[in-house]
Amino acid sequence: MIVTPEYNHSFPGTLKNALDRVYAEWNDKAAGLVSYGVDGRVRAVEALRPVLGALQLADVSAQVTLNLRTDFADFGASFTPGEHQGPALATLLDQLVSWSSALARTRGNPS
Ligand SMILES: Cc1cc2nc3c(=O)[nH]c(=O)nc-3n(C[C@H](O)[C@H](O)[C@H](O)COP(=O)(O)O)c2cc1C
Repeated sequence: MIVTPEYNHSFPGTLKNALDRVYAEWNDKAAGLVSYGVDGRVRAVEALRPVLGALQLADVSAQVTLNLRTDFADFGASFTPGEHQGPALATLLDQLVSWSSALARTRGNPS
């Protein structure tokens, strides 16, 4: 699960640096994406997806995007997610578990 803020319509350079540090360790694993920001949020996720593809990371399609104005109180001081966020996260986790299990076989791990 990758949780990222959105900065200038993308994800932060620090996250790119962390992803770039290794390669084989990412291969044949599943990734779920959660983003947060004040405005777009989904743009960080969309910018991240092709990078994950290059790393042979299978990103599931469900995503959770959190809005600092509506999913947090006092602009981030406390987490007060909208009612739709719980089901969105449940779908994301279902997809992540399913793909992680399937890819375990690709990684040579039958469990
Ligand atoms: C320079 C800068 C650019 C930002 N650009 C965006 C943006 O394009 N879209 C968005 O939704 N939020 C944007 N934000 C808001 C950040 O996502 C928000 O401040 C978030 O809390 C940053 O996460 P962090 O404090 O964990 O680093 C921006 C904030 C800064 C300071």
